[in-house]
Amino acid sequence: MPLFIGLMSGTSLDGADGVLASIDEHVDGCQVQVLSAGHVDFPENLRSTLLALQHPGADDLHHEALAANQLATCYAACVRQLLTSAGITSDQVVAIGAHGQTIRHRPELGYTRQTNNGALLAELTGIDVVVDFRSRDVAAGGQGAPLVPAFHQDLFAAGGLRVIANIGGISNISILPPRGSHAVPTTGFDTGPGNMLLDLWTQRHCAQAYDRGGQWAASGTVNAALLTVLREDAFFRLPGPKSTGRDLFNARWLDQQLTHFGNLTTTDVQATLVELTATTLIDALVTVAPHVNEVFICGGGAYNTFLMGRLHSALAARGSTATVQSTLEIGVPPDQVEALAFAWLALRFMARTTGNLPTVTGAHGTRILGALYPA
Ligand SMILES: Nc1ncnc2c1ncn2[C@@H]1O[C@H](COP(=O)(O)OP(=O)(O)O)[C@@H](O)[C@H]1O
Ligand SMILES: [Mg+2]
Repeated sequence: MPLFIGLMSGTSLDGADGVLASIDEHVDGCQVQVLSAGHVDFPENLRSTLLALQHPGADDLHHEALAANQLATCYAACVRQLLTSAGITSDQVVAIGAHGQTIRHRPELGYTRQTNNGALLAELTGIDVVVDFRSRDVAAGGQGAPLVPAFHQDLFAAGGLRVIANIGGISNISILPPRGSHAVPTTGFDTGPGNMLLDLWTQRHCAQAYDRGGQWAASGTVNAALLTVLREDAFFRLPGPKSTGRDLFNARWLDQQLTHFGNLTTTDVQATLVELTATTLIDALVTVAPHVNEVFICGGGAYNTFLMGRLHSALAARGSTATVQSTLEIGVPPDQVEALAFAWLALRFMARTTGNLPTVTGAHGTRILGALYPA
């Protein structure tokens, strides 16, 4: 089976996740076998530069170009890790699908920017590199996001109605009708913040990258008034297709919402932010898929035990009996799913087959996604 590498670094800015996998496409779905998986933490200066690039600043072009080079170097380190641990050489890999780092996402203005240096990555790895998967969908009038539902459908669709929820920095859901049923299309959209606000608050008040297992949040109490204010953001009321990112849910947004809640403890704010992540995701899910049978969580949020419990409670509170489990239960560790999606998107590009779902992104039609830097 042909080998592909997928590299993903999302809005959490925690680093790059990579997988080396064999992927085989059939008419009724795909089969994957992960040969190795890896992660490279971003150096602190890259993290802070990427964070600064989310907003206008001095000499942005220069800083963006240098960040792209440093990112490609991290990606190349991840590729070396993957090849070494699988005992595979670069010439055995068909292509790398490298997401790049989103620094601006403004589909309504006709652009989305994933900073990356595909040329450098091709130079450093000697492998064909496919980049810039989102722009073509945006050019076709779509949101350019989320792109993963097509892959989720291909890999995870089953007998019943399944939802895959990816809780990275931002959360997105894929609603997967039963395999082979053509009555309802696959849909999906961003539901709002995932770990992003949780990480931001934890970094600010605990000097840790994230709240491991959600233990800090679990020791707090949800503040109903703050939760109501947070949930009032217009994004949550928009129907899909919709996508979001740090352009909206950032430190400035959170500080604005907290203006009248200065008396709350930082712990109660964290508990309330978990509740925001859980309830906005479940509300969106139940609205579009009220009869869902199974919910599977991927992304770093799947490792937040407290959040997983809150998702289950929120679902039960809406009268659903669906189960909430990690994607590990269906064969893929939660931190590998997104990287695998970009390996799959590289396969689709190399085969010159389409990678987007207009029912998800709102594009005028299906399109071949990506741009190639040959080895
Ligand atoms: N053990 C854990 N407990 C709580 N949260 C976790 C844990 N492991 C990962 N996370 C969360 O997942 C985030 C990374 O998720 P990821 O799927 O990589 O997001 P992105 O795609 O945005 O980079 C971390 O920043 C952290 O918030
Ligand atoms: Mg990540």
